[in-house]
Amino acid sequence: MYIAAGNRYETMKYRRCGRSGLMLPAISLGLWHNFGYHDTEVNGREMVRRAYDLGITHFDLANNYGPPPGSAEEMFGKILKDDLAPYRDELIISTKAGYLMWPGPYGEWGSRKYLVASLDQSLKRMGLEYVDIFYSHRPDPNTPFEETMGALEQVVRQGKALYVGLSNYSGEQTSEAVKILKELKVHCLIHQPRYNMLDRKAESDLMGVLGNEGVGCIAFCPLAQGVLSDKYLDGIPTDSRAAKPTGYLKADQVTEEKLSKVRKLRQIAQNRGQSLVQMALAWVLRDERVTSALIGASRPGQVEENVKALEKLDFSVQEIKEIDAITL
Ligand SMILES: NC(=O)c1ccc[n+]([C@@H]2O[C@H](COP(=O)([O-])OP(=O)(O)OC[C@H]3O[C@@H](n4cnc5c(N)ncnc54)[C@H](OP(=O)(O)O)[C@@H]3O)[C@@H](O)[C@H]2O)c1
Repeated sequence: MYIAAGNRYETMKYRRCGRSGLMLPAISLGLWHNFGYHDTEVNGREMVRRAYDLGITHFDLANNYGPPPGSAEEMFGKILKDDLAPYRDELIISTKAGYLMWPGPYGEWGSRKYLVASLDQSLKRMGLEYVDIFYSHRPDPNTPFEETMGALEQVVRQGKALYVGLSNYSGEQTSEAVKILKELKVHCLIHQPRYNMLDRKAESDLMGVLGNEGVGCIAFCPLAQGVLSDKYLDGIPTDSRAAKPTGYLKADQVTEEKLSKVRKLRQIAQNRGQSLVQMALAWVLRDERVTSALIGASRPGQVEENVKALEKLDFSVQEIKEIDAITL
């Protein structure tokens, strides 16, 4: 039987999520990869246990994580039931709906019909009565935002979600959605954008809106799916995401242009006494509007290495300048 480490809250840093009452761990664990039917439950369970032992209280899912879609929620449901059930009130569990989940006109995007049905399915797969955060996973160009936000409000009123969030909405779309939610008397807790040293789009478009509106930010792919590490510098290792047929990172996306930046960034990390992975996480967290860096992992040792990023979060002005020169 699993018993969580007694010292799990001693080293993790918790940051306030925008203007809300909720604190999130500076590092959260996402289950997009490595928790599907092709992956071993033993490894998934060990990663979740290690994460929680290190104070990672937030686990991020979506209806479609797997493959196949739904299988990550199923595996997480088993882990919850066997290992984490006694700790439910110490956990923040999120899920999302937006991408293709089932056939027909009601199985994706942003209608009330899809969002409400999808959350019911997610709750069943995970064996939960409620999730802590429910996201609209992507904006729907063909559904009025009033309807999508209305669905988010509905699940909060029903007690099926405590908080709501947006993902992949642009700055302008976020402003509009937040305004509608305000009219519905629901605070938008959090936004989940892609943000890392190789993809800084959120800085120009979104961060200002989040800061002004008091919406928290959880940055996904902070390691650019693993490209911001040493692993691809001498080719594609067979056990890496880019080598796996089910991985979303394709080998041809690991370009020489990116690797030449990675080499230079690694040098800065070494001078700081950190691995590149650790510097990449610290860098995302240098912006106080970023509540949490949402990592993925393929083995428990990665979770351990990544949490150690918190031992050195500060950057000198010179380091920031050098990173900007490489990445802007
Ligand atoms: N809202 C959205 O639309 C959206 C989209 C994408 C992701 N997300 C969320 O963000 C989460 C994280 O995404 P991500 O998995 O792409 O994040 P990431 O942290 O950028 O990449 C994770 C991958 O990097 C590698 N890695 C991690 N730690 C490492 C270490 N210490 N040393 C070497 N390699 C390391 C592993 O890949 P290997 O397999 O190569 O070891 C790992 O699976 C997802 O699980 C999901 O919850 C959300």
